[in-house]
Amino acid sequence: MQSHFRRKALSFDSLYDESGFVQRRVRPGLLARRDIALQVVASYESPRVLDVGCGSGRIGEEALEHGTGRYVGVDFSEPMLDLARARLERFDAPVELVCGDFLEVPLEGTFDVVLALGLFDYLPHAPPFVRRMRELCSGTVVASFPGWHWFKGPIRRLRYEVVNKVQIFDYTEAGLRRLFADAGFARVELVRPGRSGFVARAFV
Ligand SMILES: C[S@@+](CC[C@H](N)C(=O)[O-])C[C@H]1O[C@@H](n2cnc3c(N)ncnc32)[C@H](O)[C@@H]1O
Repeated sequence: MQSHFRRKALSFDSLYDESGFVQRRVRPGLLARRDIALQVVASYESPRVLDVGCGSGRIGEEALEHGTGRYVGVDFSEPMLDLARARLERFDAPVELVCGDFLEVPLEGTFDVVLALGLFDYLPHAPPFVRRMRELCSGTVVASFPGWHWFKGPIRRLRYEVVNKVQIFDYTEAGLRRLFADAGFARVELVRPGRSGFVARAFV
């Protein structure tokens, strides 16, 4: 999976270049999760934001434009972080990009907002990630999760697992509620944009 994101950094990044109209039709989840994340960021004053699996910094860029006071992005793909570095260098707010596995890298302090967008799709075992997010979060986690869709599901499986040789995972509403409760979150709100996945807002 790590090698997939080393090879595919540019093509993943370019998904965000497609026009808003095309994206809203083809990938409603991609825009919806971004919109929810930015609403949460904007609801805090100058928040400290941790972006787990920050990729090429597309969400980081918008989070910084929405008033983020300190941004830390973690990703284990160097090519993704190279793109993020170039994209985020124009901001005055402190930006830190950490290369490594989220479960292994040392991170100082706590964060008002923890983002995990497009990360859980690829994780065979999610609980340690959610527990680590709980340790680092003093406010809200916003995370996206794919869910099975009778039409899009098989196409997605074919594209990722057969063509790209990357395993992907699906989640259910009951499983997500348990995942966040077991990690110690007080409350979780789930929305299902486009019916092909979930966006969770979890509160400490
Ligand atoms: C689909 S991309 C999403 C990027 C970004 N969050 C966005 O929404 O545009 C998923 C990213 O998670 C990173 N990733 C996956 N597992 C990780 C892990 N255990 N530790 C750090 N990064 C990870 C990958 O390298 C990849 O850049």
